[in-house]
Amino acid sequence: MREALPLFPERASTMAGSVDSLYIFLIVVSVFFSLLIAFSIIYFAIRYRRRSETERPAPVHGGLALELVWTVIPFLLTMVMFGWGASVYFELYRPPDDAMNIYVVGKQWMWKVQHLGGQREINELHIPIGRSVKLTMTSQDVIHDFFVPAFRTKADVLPGRYTNIWFKPTKPGKYHLFCAEYCGTEHSGMIGWVYVMEPAAYEVWLAGGAAGGTLASNGEKLFQSLACSNCHRPDLTGRGPNLVGVFGRPVQLEGGGTVTADENYIRESILNPAAKVVAGYQPVMPTFQGLVTEEELLQLIEYIKSLSTPPAATPAAAPTPVRRKR
Ligand code: CUA
Repeated sequence: MREALPLFPERASTMAGSVDSLYIFLIVVSVFFSLLIAFSIIYFAIRYRRRSETERPAPVHGGLALELVWTVIPFLLTMVMFGWGASVYFELYRPPDDAMNIYVVGKQWMWKVQHLGGQREINELHIPIGRSVKLTMTSQDVIHDFFVPAFRTKADVLPGRYTNIWFKPTKPGKYHLFCAEYCGTEHSGMIGWVYVMEPAAYEVWLAGGAAGGTLASNGEKLFQSLACSNCHRPDLTGRGPNLVGVFGRPVQLEGGGTVTADENYIRESILNPAAKVVAGYQPVMPTFQGLVTEEELLQLIEYIKSLSTPPAATPAAAPTPVRRKR
């Protein structure tokens, strides 16, 4: 369904309308003032041209009313732009709590996607219509930028940390996915498709792709095989802090201060364990830099997250008993 004037890409998310309204407002204001200024220049150039060699115009001593008008009107207009833009921005970059999480790793030159159920895809993203989707994204090399024009959303994908975007698709279909940050020779080829599917078709798709276990269960296997479980014991006898119930909570740090145990903190604690040591523990943990890939980091994070959600929500990854005491 294309409009008569295809100025904008298709609108396929709940945010597309409000982003476009803001853009149209900016365009209308810009066009209006561009025309006003251009015509004024031409009009004044003709109206006040020098008519003879000897003409000397009378000096002008300002006009308070005029100056107030051309100060106050632009001020109000720019404040409207600021307020409106800020509100759209906050909506665009604050994922709703019920959003389903999907992980994205960018690399030269492809998009690697991991779903919670263990489904993986490259340069494709399958999502159901009408559900909020949050992407947690990182890069294993340089800066990329995840851009889906039909959803009117994009964000830089940075090495060494996690960034998020979210969207709620409103229209089934196939939409362009671009890398919007120059990232090397084949930047222009770092493209893909987002498939917005009807819920039933999405379930069929999900069922067809989960061969290797859920992200959290893969994370648990890694947690065992990397021997994390030797020190991070749920019964508090280990040399590392208990990780059950930690995700999303504030953590007291050695030497004062607190940090929220979010994805970025867990990532840092795995790769640079001495950076923010939990109060009461020694900085004895070795770094896992170079030993775990970006995808494996995400699996470990998902496992640690699963330790904090009620077992009913993730039956497959329900942690072992022995705990509950604080
Ligand atoms: Cu990745 Cu441009």
